[in-house]
Amino acid sequence: MSQPLIPVTLLFADGVSHRLQVPRGGKLVETATAAGLNLLTDCSNGQCGTCTAQLVSGSVELEDYDRAVLPDEDRACGTVLPCVCRVTSACAIELPYDSSEALSEEPAPISAAVTAIEPVASETVRLEVEVPDALVFEPGQYVRITPQGADFHRSYSMANVPGTNRLQFFVRLVENGAFSQWLAAAKPGDQVELSTPHGTFFLRDEDRPRLFVAGGTGVAPFLSMLRSMAAQPASQRTTLVIGARTPGHLFALEELKALGSRLQGMDLQIAVEQDAEPGCHTGYPTDLIPKLGLDPATRVYLCGPPPMVEAGRRAAEAAGLAKGDVLCERFA
Ligand code: FES
Repeated sequence: MSQPLIPVTLLFADGVSHRLQVPRGGKLVETATAAGLNLLTDCSNGQCGTCTAQLVSGSVELEDYDRAVLPDEDRACGTVLPCVCRVTSACAIELPYDSSEALSEEPAPISAAVTAIEPVASETVRLEVEVPDALVFEPGQYVRITPQGADFHRSYSMANVPGTNRLQFFVRLVENGAFSQWLAAAKPGDQVELSTPHGTFFLRDEDRPRLFVAGGTGVAPFLSMLRSMAAQPASQRTTLVIGARTPGHLFALEELKALGSRLQGMDLQIAVEQDAEPGCHTGYPTDLIPKLGLDPATRVYLCGPPPMVEAGRRAAEAAGLAKGDVLCERFA
């Protein structure tokens, strides 16, 4: 017997709304896809936070998800992860992006060729690929990379500036990780497929202080942002805090320092968990947030593993910043 249908209203940031009829207990994303709406997702299993949205009425059930991505207090305030939503009653969900993003058909993948693979730090490799046409994106966005013939993809942020056909990514090597194993055997000339650029974690064009906090390879989207900012230096205060397990895990330091001097003396602070050198903090990058004396007008960008992002969000809010002023990008 077919399940009764339950109305779900999706409210997009541009004011457009869509009404779906979801079978009771059915998956929201599946019904949306069948109706031609590609909701923004990445991991699709509650581990990354890309799909984060706000329930404004009714209720949904969530399948398993990472509590660091969606803490219980946020869940209690109505924050949901559509990728793991099962619909059990009529509800309305606010999505933080325009309807055009969901309505567009998934474009054809972009073919790319590997041009360089280079270890740059402990457990970190720089991967460079070439695409036929210059890629347009917002600094901070990511693409999904699928090695030719593989049945998996991984998402990585571009570290280069937009508008070039050489794309640079920083990949953290994971023991027995599918992408890491592919990378270990990959060589220049190998083919990969890229999705079009995705993500709402991108540099906002606004005249206010900026704080960037990165853990590990979370530095990559900030390289793209800082390189773009350096092309048009402005006067707003910029602070970058980067964290890594040891000094040997840090990468792109020289370039970050050079970008810092072009950005009117950007404040660069470093935190490592072990073997800190003089001038570096021992601990996590988010430990430094309360000590920065943040202007309440600051826009905060956090990129790193979910617990780091969550700690950063709490620290920023404790420093008096509004929740909406903190942008987060989490990776597993
Ligand atoms: S896509 Fe929903 S948490 Fe990753």
